Amino acid sequence: MTFRSVTNYRETFKVILRKMHVSQKAFVNGQWVAAASDKVFEVTNPANGEVVGTVPDMDIQDAQNAIQAAATAFETWKFTTAKERSQLLRKWFNLLNENQESIAKIMTAESGKPISEALGEVHYGNSFIEWFSEQARNVRGEIVESPVTSKKILIDHHPIGVAALITPWNFPHAMIARKAGAALAVGCTCVVKPSEDTPLTALAIAKLAEDAGIPKGVLNIVTSDRHNAPSIGKLFCESPLVAGISFTGSTLVGKILYKQCSSGVKRLALELGGNAPFIVYNSANLDKAVEGALGSKFRNCGQACVASNRFLIQDEVFDEFVTKLIHRVKQLKIGNGVEPNVNLGPLINETQFNKVSDLVNDAISKGAKVLTGGKPASHIGKLFYEPTVIIDITENMKLYHEEVFGPVINIIRFKTEEESLKIANGTQSGLAGYFYSEDIKQIFRVSRKMEVGMVGVNEGIISTAEAPFGGIKESGLGREGSHRGIEDFTYIKYTCLGNLE
Ligand code: SIN
Repeated sequence: MTFRSVTNYRETFKVILRKMHVSQKAFVNGQWVAAASDKVFEVTNPANGEVVGTVPDMDIQDAQNAIQAAATAFETWKFTTAKERSQLLRKWFNLLNENQESIAKIMTAESGKPISEALGEVHYGNSFIEWFSEQARNVRGEIVESPVTSKKILIDHHPIGVAALITPWNFPHAMIARKAGAALAVGCTCVVKPSEDTPLTALAIAKLAEDAGIPKGVLNIVTSDRHNAPSIGKLFCESPLVAGISFTGSTLVGKILYKQCSSGVKRLALELGGNAPFIVYNSANLDKAVEGALGSKFRNCGQACVASNRFLIQDEVFDEFVTKLIHRVKQLKIGNGVEPNVNLGPLINETQFNKVSDLVNDAISKGAKVLTGGKPASHIGKLFYEPTVIIDITENMKLYHEEVFGPVINIIRFKTEEESLKIANGTQSGLAGYFYSEDIKQIFRVSRKMEVGMVGVNEGIISTAEAPFGGIKESGLGREGSHRGIEDFTYIKYTCLGNLE
């Protein structure tokens, strides 16, 4: 899908926003509402700084209204049957599918993601709604053998209540779908706080939820600018009407939410930063490893928690791998995501751009060698950064330790498997890890020893609705997607039936 011209694109985009009623309003209690203060903020396209929409700048009073609406709706929604919830989610999924191109265009305009990638994310996000529409009817209890004949032990799952979902800008549709799909499927109601960088996608998918007939108050979207986000997050953590929080974002913010949730001993699911190793062993198929590296690193311009962040290449194959990699990286096209065949868009904002530049400059100043890229692509726009390959990374460089969240492949050379695992596991993060090897014993050995929640063996893209997504160590708590994705939104109730004789 491409646009004939950027001008044409702008017109198309405005029509889409109008058609989808995504304009200056958030969605609370089944109504499209302004902030109580009437304040709004602008959403800009990171590719060119153009304002693409304005949305309410809500504060804790608005968030409180949304929580109250969700709490009221919960009293009814929790008693709907699994079949009813499944059918509504299926209707939502159908509408999301019918409108996939419009959602993708909105997403590209506010996130900068190339249109083909935005469409890919829409498919990915929709797949969670489809998956959880099926899972809704698959939540099963148990009857466990009792130690005495006069009692029966029943175990079943109940919705926790109002779930507050705080979602990031890097996957503006899929992260809402992965959380809300699970929460709604089991009978929770939701208040979603999308990122201030990408609220339009959230509002578009909420509009389709409304059209699907999801009852008022069951799904609420509270938009706010950056300055109100911390107080809204705190309210979510401390409100007695909120039963649980699910957050995807930085480890720093995750830790703050973790602390704030302690006062109410609130259920908390955290999908935080990763610092994924990508290891290429001597036995690897190097062509496949190069393609895996591109997919895993450059998806969303490197702005993914599961993106490979440290490339560890074994001595014997180092030169060949790097040569093949550079050849492919040089073919990548960087540009405005609405133009044809663009592989890499801009970084989302200035903070992100400065961080990437700073990490690369720090490495260069300490002796790292740039093989391609290594600098801003300012001729395209102020948030564009060239796809970069940089070698001779050493422990004294920030790039060695920190998550870059940008299009930078930093390469470390190693000699032994033991050494590779020491480097791979030498971090407090543990979300995903990838390695390439054709040695079956090594495959089992290394996957067992990698300290992460998700392993890609000879594969750079591992995310799918059917598999559990989540990390260990400081990468988070809980699992999203898969049949386990409902666990954060349910509690287990044990009922003892006594005096049965
Ligand atoms: C993330 O990295 O933030 C989520 C990506 C995914 O679901 O694959």
